[in-house]
Amino acid sequence: MNNSIQVISKYALEGMNAQSLNDAALAAKQTLESGSGLGNDFLGWLHLPSSIDEQQLQALEQTAAVLRQECEYVITIGIGGSYLGAKAIIEALSDHFAAYKSGNGPKVLFAGNNIGEDYLYDLMDLVRGHKFGIIVISKSGTTTEPAIAFRLFKEMLEKQEGKEFAQRNIVAVTDARRGALRNLATQEGYATYVIPDNVGGRFSVLTPVGLLPIAVAGFDIRALVAGAVEMEKDGDEQVLNYAIARNALYNNGKKIEILANFTPRLHFLAEWWKQLYGESEGKGHKGIFPASVDFTTDLHSMGQMIQDGERTIFETVLSVGDQQHEVIIPTDEADLDGLNYIAGKNVDYVNKMAELGTRLAHVDGGVPNLLITMPAVNERYLGQLIYFFEKACGVSGYMLGVNPFDQPGVEAYKKNMFALLEKPGHEEATAAIKARL
Ligand code: PA5
Repeated sequence: MNNSIQVISKYALEGMNAQSLNDAALAAKQTLESGSGLGNDFLGWLHLPSSIDEQQLQALEQTAAVLRQECEYVITIGIGGSYLGAKAIIEALSDHFAAYKSGNGPKVLFAGNNIGEDYLYDLMDLVRGHKFGIIVISKSGTTTEPAIAFRLFKEMLEKQEGKEFAQRNIVAVTDARRGALRNLATQEGYATYVIPDNVGGRFSVLTPVGLLPIAVAGFDIRALVAGAVEMEKDGDEQVLNYAIARNALYNNGKKIEILANFTPRLHFLAEWWKQLYGESEGKGHKGIFPASVDFTTDLHSMGQMIQDGERTIFETVLSVGDQQHEVIIPTDEADLDGLNYIAGKNVDYVNKMAELGTRLAHVDGGVPNLLITMPAVNERYLGQLIYFFEKACGVSGYMLGVNPFDQPGVEAYKKNMFALLEKPGHEEATAAIKARL
């Protein structure tokens, strides 16, 4: 398959017999595709890209057009899988300094992804006196962080612009039937989109969870979906390469995977990836710990640790072919900074040499690296990348012997928090936790 995501393991598997994992990977892929494995009621994402039809795309585009026309800001409220996918794609496609520039359409901002009081205060301060809309996203409809943010911004919007404007410019993305958000949306008459039952949060970026905010930000959701369809149809070789390599490395003592990019716009893509792999694989006291770095920035902070610290790391470098713009390094007659040796080169040429130099240095230091190449950062290749990582995660998780589609561990902090907040129904836990303090 040309013009697509490729996985290259040249500097990852030298001297290792990864071949023996081939059968395990094929078996895991078969388990995934036949729906015979653990968590098989959450496989709706597997054929999701090719099932998205014209009607769905048009509906999303129409809703986005209303928000784009009426609002200066659109606050997207959600956390985890109901936040990171949209954030990752919007950041990857946006001008780095969009926040400081005026542009076409509303600025998409995020809330409900933390409980930071000052964060919420500052955001409320920003949108006060401006027309804004809200996309509130929660599959369960009961998650505390987004529920608090929604209560605040809903009240603010209704007071500021009136009930009618609020009703027109609030969209809820939630379960088809269950949850507080579904009930609230029905009662208030908001437009709604459904998160399918069989698609878990971290696999939901190609549902309205991701597609609606991305469309509101002005990006081409058709191209994004088309890229994902390409991978759904032709991506298995790359999926297997990645799943095999990371399991081979894990079995060889490399317990930490660092996703490294040399492209600042991919910072949040790595945050999305961390949730996908962390929540899917970290179970039964097993799993590769997913970390990320932004190079070359972090070569000046984490570089020492990667080069020379404990040898439990492998690195996956996300390498981008073409940049969107060209910036040439100028010649300077005096050459006081000694940079004339790269004068006339474009900045990305230097970045690419830094990338190759880093990979070789890390291999020499005992950090094997995998390379994932994407031809450019655009909707099509991001769509490919999303689906590639999702499917590889399913295969990899089954190879590891876990259920990649649940997240029981996420509940532990919530139980304690509810007990400490004295939420009704948690009286026993409240007494127990108070006894520990
Ligand atoms: O991947 C997941 O399932 C989680 O990260 C959820 O997306 C996150 O906890 C938010 O849940 P909800 O969409 O129910 O508010």
